[in-house]
Amino acid sequence: MVAKGKGILAADESSGTCEKRFQSVGVDCTEESRRAYRGLLFGTPGIEQFLSGVILFDETARQKADDGATFPAYLAKKGIIPGIKVDKGTVDIPLAPGEKVTEGLDGLSKRLDEYFKMGCRFAKWRAVITIGKNIPTHSCLYANAHALARYAAACQAASIVPMIEPEVLLDGEHTIERCEEVTEATLRATYAAIAAYNVFPEFLILKTSMVVSGKGNPRQAGPGEVAERTLRVLKRTVPAAQPGIVFLSGGQSDESATAHLSAMAATKGLPWPLTFSYSRALQNPALNTWRGEAGNVAAAQKAFHHRARMNSLACQGKWRPELEKQAA
Ligand code: 13P
Repeated sequence: MVAKGKGILAADESSGTCEKRFQSVGVDCTEESRRAYRGLLFGTPGIEQFLSGVILFDETARQKADDGATFPAYLAKKGIIPGIKVDKGTVDIPLAPGEKVTEGLDGLSKRLDEYFKMGCRFAKWRAVITIGKNIPTHSCLYANAHALARYAAACQAASIVPMIEPEVLLDGEHTIERCEEVTEATLRATYAAIAAYNVFPEFLILKTSMVVSGKGNPRQAGPGEVAERTLRVLKRTVPAAQPGIVFLSGGQSDESATAHLSAMAATKGLPWPLTFSYSRALQNPALNTWRGEAGNVAAAQKAFHHRARMNSLACQGKWRPELEKQAA
């Protein structure tokens, strides 16, 4: 999953999220249009050079590529590891205004056994932490950390690699200092629970948000500062025994997500490889080019290939802005 020069495509948007993304480019969101779009991404010629894995949504894991293979089998044939989103989304935490906890633990072991049979070899669970006035609270961090750890233990028992994703949202006017403090508290709570539930760090992938300025804060930190603060937090909290760390893009611009990753990956002496596991920052240009038209498929694939290649360079610390202009 963290092989050199490769990263992970998050294509596990729920049908509701997919609807929002499709609406933004005027595409009807149906089972078939979702299948066609995912088929476009996975079928991009040469994409396996840059992707070690793809995270699928339940519906997609049961759909077929144009050649008749199920999507997990299709990806595996290309040497890409199929993964699966197994959480069931977030709900409000009672007595904790503005805070969410992720559901999906009931019946999880059974679902994992089925996903393993379908060919999925890693799974994802996303927890959402919001920064605001007096939040996150201890109860929010605690509830989400325990859910993540219980999910991770269930995955390891089912021979599926857990990818734990505690996402600190970038929405808000908070400073980067506040984001650093909250990210550290979130990861401390998460890893305390990981240890409490006997989860093996050796078979665990962290998918984390980066430490960035709140979207609405007038002072936007540059890549050097984002890298320094993010790495400080990760070094303080993530066991060196872990095989790797991947990042979500979280609503950053495509190029910022790439620049931030490259700045971090260029840092020498880290105990783990770092790479991308982006949804929006990999897919935006492809979706905007496709717009639901069969005639745009080749151009959309080219746009997707370009972003994947830029992020492949970034996870080796080799991306530079001028490379954006260079054809493959
Ligand atoms: P973004 O890269 O768009 O944040 O999505 C990653 C993801 O998997 C969110 O759960």
